[in-house]
Amino acid sequence: MKQTDPAPGRMSVEVLAVHHWTDELFSFRTSRDPSFRFESGQFVMIGLEIEGRPVMRAYSIASPSWADELEFYSIKVADGELTSRLRSIEAGERLLIGRKATGTLVLSALRPGRTLYLLATGTGLAPFLALVREPEVYERFDHVVLAHGCRQEQDLSYHDLLSDIWPTDPELGPIISGKLLYFPTLTREPFINNGRLTDHIASGRLAAAHQLAPLNPDNDRVMICGSSDMLRDTRALLETKGFTEGSLSRPGDYVVERAFVDS
Ligand code: A2P
Repeated sequence: MKQTDPAPGRMSVEVLAVHHWTDELFSFRTSRDPSFRFESGQFVMIGLEIEGRPVMRAYSIASPSWADELEFYSIKVADGELTSRLRSIEAGERLLIGRKATGTLVLSALRPGRTLYLLATGTGLAPFLALVREPEVYERFDHVVLAHGCRQEQDLSYHDLLSDIWPTDPELGPIISGKLLYFPTLTREPFINNGRLTDHIASGRLAAAHQLAPLNPDNDRVMICGSSDMLRDTRALLETKGFTEGSLSRPGDYVVERAFVDS
């Protein structure tokens, strides 16, 4: 396939590895240009040239800011313009990537606090995979609760990394072990935790499961990433508890980003 030079504002990166978690979920790693800088939690446009035209979508970067490579986590949409092509990408092929990362799921959009809650459904997990590997997160917070809601166990990508492999990693382990509290929950299959994240917040179980005080805006900060419905319901719950939304210009108690990839 002929590769034209990317337009200004975009770069080309090499795909280094692809991992298919299920028929519907995959992740891939790419090279990282040394000039490409981002904060853990941000997203960037990535894509492919399809029939001579760049097809770009927003993707949260799943690798932390210090990593030499970039990682992305995606669903495969059967008739999606980008993911129907991206799903068959292989190591050695090239992708387009925007030069500028952005987004609100960054530490600087939150006021200081004791516990950081990262609430994700589905591929909304991606930005939090970067944040839970970011040492600064553990300097700012005593505990980081990563709650991931999915339908079935097979959808819990990164489960083993989050529960075992990263906490015992020689470099990462001493930073995250005992501080990162992982809470996977399923809605369509029996599991150690069952029910929607919103139910676990409303019932107080999410905090109680980790012997933490009930969720409150004095101590807790929250980042949310999932479907539009999940964001709406979680935001409403937090607002009733007195949390105020933050932004880059005005840090607050919680921040929100839609899990992007849907085509
Ligand atoms: P449920 O199975 O009850 O719909 P999806 O695969 O549709 O993106 O869903 C991923 C997970 O998010 C599922 O466990 C789903 O639960 C849950 N979910 C869907 N809508 C909401 C919502 N409004 N609030 C919290 N969780 C939700």
